[in-house]
Amino acid sequence: MALEHPVMDLMTDHRRIEAVMNALEKQLLVSDSFPTEFITKALKFFVEYADGFHHLKEEEHLFPAMVDRGVAVECGPIGVMLHDHAIGRQLLAGIRSQLEEASRGDPHAQTAVRDYALRYIDMLRQHIWKEDNVLFSIAQRVLDEPAADFIAERFASIRSMNVTPETVERHRQFADAASRL
Ligand SMILES: [Fe+2]
Ligand SMILES: [Fe+2]
Repeated sequence: MALEHPVMDLMTDHRRIEAVMNALEKQLLVSDSFPTEFITKALKFFVEYADGFHHLKEEEHLFPAMVDRGVAVECGPIGVMLHDHAIGRQLLAGIRSQLEEASRGDPHAQTAVRDYALRYIDMLRQHIWKEDNVLFSIAQRVLDEPAADFIAERFASIRSMNVTPETVERHRQFADAASRL
């Protein structure tokens, strides 16, 4: 029996990432005080799950399989996706660099964190749209069933120092809770 198609797995991740982005955006735009606790948790989710786990699946498994089947990197859709991932990492580093000062009440640092976070949310929403509507259609076209199964097996066995199965599960629960906020 065929395993879940890797594109479906990645789209499920997208819905979780969107749930946390929506909750963070709401906190940033409506809360009277600076939402240090939620931003700290969301930052951890974005670093460890969105980037450390989800982007790892794309960069180490899906994209290389697509490149092997002739999809362009430079000046092509995969190059655009990799560029977006790099911008996202810079924006997360920006949030992290200002968060401690912001949590101590520094208004300039709080503004900087809000700006970085809102830019991150805006960029990642567009990035997810491009993957869901363009890149993943290409992936479904170029990957035959054995190739898709091979990637799905790699996804299931992802291990790294920072992203243990327990960490992944904890972040999934955080996203589920965020979707109800
Ligand atoms: Fe991506
Ligand atoms: Fe993605």
